[in-house]
Amino acid sequence: MNVLDTRYRYGAVSRAIHWSMAVLLVLMLGTEWLAELVGMSEREAMALHKSVGVLLLGLLVFRLLWRRVNHGRLEAHVHWQWAARLGHWALYAAMLLIPVSGLLVALGSGHGVELFGLPLIAPGAEIEWLEEAAEETHEVLANLLWLLIGGHVLASLAHQFWLRDHTLKRMA
Ligand code: HEM
Ligand code: HEM
Repeated sequence: MNVLDTRYRYGAVSRAIHWSMAVLLVLMLGTEWLAELVGMSEREAMALHKSVGVLLLGLLVFRLLWRRVNHGRLEAHVHWQWAARLGHWALYAAMLLIPVSGLLVALGSGHGVELFGLPLIAPGAEIEWLEEAAEETHEVLANLLWLLIGGHVLASLAHQFWLRDHTLKRMA
């Protein structure tokens, strides 16, 4: 098992981060629906949403550092390299800006943020304009993430069944 990326395949760490973040992000996008499904109160669901969101931000920072460590190890794509780069950077931008805007919603609401019980942002006064602007941004970006994930999955399937260049195997 390779910990680092190799010429033809992402390493164990890159793959573990990719798939764990993918699952957590989709669960985050479906927070309201999932909370209803398991009978969780809105308050409990939001506390968990904020904790997992902060965790995802931490994972993203580690992921970007790990990507830097692995720079140049994996062979670049033959087909549509620019499109893959653009798509991947759009996903990274969304993975960064969504939790940051979420933190701003929490700051603006004055409710504060805890990381699984550990206080990160203390409750304070409500800042209405910040809450409203950040809420709008958070929602628009979350909708955009659905689209980006859809495009990313379609691209993976196109690589697998149309171009047949084993791209899916690099991450599987
Ligand atoms: C929330 C969901 C997902 C996000 C945010 C995401 C994000 C990313 C990002 C940023 C990369 C680029 C990695 C790098 O820096 O080199 C990547 C690669 C990849 N992802 Fe995803 N991904 C998600 C879900 C999926 C799913 C469901 C599939 C499979 C259908 C998939 C298949 C792949 C493959 C095959 C690669 C490697 C592409 C290559 O070799 O260039 N991803 N993903
Ligand atoms: C990391 C990935 C995240 C994703 C994918 C995500 C996604 C979402 C979605 C889909 C909603 C419901 C749409 C809406 O009504 O605005 C939402 C609401 C919310 N999120 Fe996040 N979020 C993330 C991170 C965070 C973080 C880190 C925080 C704060 C620490 C946060 C705080 C909130 C709050 C306070 C709301 C409720 C906003 C409202 O009252 O409308 N989110 N988020």
